Amino acid sequence: MGKKKIILGFDIGGTGIKAALVDVNAGKLLTEKTKLLTPQPSDPLSVVEVVKQLIKIFRYKGPIGCGFPAIIHHGVAKSAANIDDSWMNVDIEKFFYKETGLAFYVANDADVAGLAEVKFGKSRLKGMVIVLTIGTGIGSGMFVDGKLIPNTELGHLNYKESVYEHYVSNNARKNNNLSWEEWAPGFADYLRHLEKLFSPDLFVIGGGASSKFDRFGKLLEVDTPVIPAQFENNAGILGAAIYATDRMKSN
Ligand code: BGC
Repeated sequence: MGKKKIILGFDIGGTGIKAALVDVNAGKLLTEKTKLLTPQPSDPLSVVEVVKQLIKIFRYKGPIGCGFPAIIHHGVAKSAANIDDSWMNVDIEKFFYKETGLAFYVANDADVAGLAEVKFGKSRLKGMVIVLTIGTGIGSGMFVDGKLIPNTELGHLNYKESVYEHYVSNNARKNNNLSWEEWAPGFADYLRHLEKLFSPDLFVIGGGASSKFDRFGKLLEVDTPVIPAQFENNAGILGAAIYATDRMKSN
């Protein structure tokens, strides 16, 4: 048995900011997650105040893994869809370090959620796995034989007048007053589009939608197997902590 390695994981989303302590070697949360609302506007200084509050709640002093809802290239935000535009081009790792004094390892939220599923979930398998997080937006983590292809942003594929996440995210479902059952056919269309592009071996559905999977899973008429994320909405926090550990190893 390896020594316990404990890291604080963060999952920053368009609606909520969640954190929990993670036992990285065991691949599980050690505490309940604590969720605070994402401030509106969600500009960097407002968000970091919430991040500081959460660090205080956990009385934590070590390195931090953090999922963030944007394209993250070497710690820098390169998009801002469900978060304030002022994040664009911010070096989040440097900014959070300057504000908190703690080392942050930041990556796209869906990429890290996928890492948790692929490393510790049922979906540990060979081939092409697409993890989709369905929440405020649609995030995607794409894995080939367990290796992440970062920042795929499959929720932003063009669709009709805009992009898929504006039609089939959980926010879109709520805005259109659809039940999960009513939302399923539109989402299945999206999955079929992804099948044509990537011929995946498996879809894993994470984010808020994962806990509702029994309501819509059987209605998804697609050729590729579709399973709910094993860690449901905790995958982001767990994966963020795993990501931080991987980065520290490779430094
Ligand atoms: C963002 C992605 C993010 C997803 C889920 C999208 O709007 O562009 O980077 O992964 O929302 O939060």
